[in-house]
Amino acid sequence: MDSGLRSAARFQEHRERFEEYLRELYFSDEPRLSGLVEAMRYAMLGGGKRVRPTLCMECAWVFGTEPDRTLPSAAAIELIHTYSLIHDDLPAMDDDDFRRGRPTTHRKYGEAMAILAGDAFFGEALTLITVHQQGTCEQVLEVVRELAGSTGVNGMVGGQVIDMDHTGVGSGTDPETLYMIHKFKTGALIKSSARIGALLAGAGPGEQAAISEYADELGLCFQIVDDVLNATSTREELGKSAGSDAEQGKATFVGVYGLDGARREADESAHRAVAALERVDGDTSGLRDMALFVRHRES
Ligand code: IPE
Ligand code: IPE
Ligand code: MG
Ligand code: MG
Repeated sequence: MDSGLRSAARFQEHRERFEEYLRELYFSDEPRLSGLVEAMRYAMLGGGKRVRPTLCMECAWVFGTEPDRTLPSAAAIELIHTYSLIHDDLPAMDDDDFRRGRPTTHRKYGEAMAILAGDAFFGEALTLITVHQQGTCEQVLEVVRELAGSTGVNGMVGGQVIDMDHTGVGSGTDPETLYMIHKFKTGALIKSSARIGALLAGAGPGEQAAISEYADELGLCFQIVDDVLNATSTREELGKSAGSDAEQGKATFVGVYGLDGARREADESAHRAVAALERVDGDTSGLRDMALFVRHRES
C-alpha cells in the first residue's frame, strides 16, 4: 500500500474510533436534564468533519503512541469546537439557521437551551480531560492549560470578539487584524489539537515546536478556505449558509485579497505547514495529507 492509502486508512480508523467514543459519552440520567442532554447530542452527533480530534490522534501516532489513548482529550476538543459552533450561529452572532445540513441548535431547541448546551460542553470537556485522560499529572495539566489558552481571551473567544467588531467593515479590515481574527478564532484550537496529541505522546521540545508551526499554518489555511467556500459554494454543498460573509460584511480573506488572492494565501499557508514537517523525525505523511485535505476540501 502506498503512503497516501495507508494514511487515508489510518484517518478512517481514527474517525471510526472517535465517532464511537463520542456516541458512548454519557452526561446524565437525571430525567429533568434530558432536554439538555438531547440538545447536546443533537449538536455533537450530527456530522462534522472531525478535523481537530483526528489531527490530535494522528499527532499521537506520529510520536509513537496509540491514538486511542488521546480519545478523552480529542473528544474534549470536539465538544469545545461544537460549543463554539452553537454560539457562533446564535442570532446575537452570525444568526445562522443551518449547520451540518440541519437546523442549528437554537432553531431546534430554542436560544436559551442552545446557549446552555454550549456552556455545558465546556464543563464536560474539562471532566473528560481531568477524570478520563491517562497520562502523567503534568501531561493532563498541560492539556488543560493548552485548551484554556487557546479558547480564552487570546484565543477562540477573543477572535470571535474581533470578528464581531469588524462585521460590517469587511474589505476595509487591515491585514494584520485579519490574520489575527483567523489565527485566534479558528487557528488556536486547531493548533492546540495537534499540540495535545504530541504532548500526550511525549514529543520533545524541538518536535513540539515543529508541530506547532505546522498546525499554526494549518489553522490559518483552514479559516481562509472557510472564507473561500462561503463565497463560492452553495448552502447544499456546505451544509451551512453560503454567501453570508459578503452579505454581513465579514472580515474575510476573500473580502480583503479577492478570491484569487485568498486562494494564493491558502496555498502558501498549506505549503508552509508541509515545510514545517521536515523538522519532525517520524512518518508525517498523514499530517501532510491532512494539510492537502484542509486546503482542497469542498465543505
Ligand atoms: C467550522 O468548522 C467553523 C470554523 C472554525 C471555520 P468545521 O469546518 O471544522 O466544522 P465541522 O465540525 O466540520 O462541521
Ligand atoms: C467560526 O467562524 C469560528 C468559530 C466558531 C470559533 P465562522 O463564523 O467564519 O464559521 P462558519 O462559516 O459559521 O462555520
Ligand atoms: Mg462567525
Ligand atoms: Mg459563522
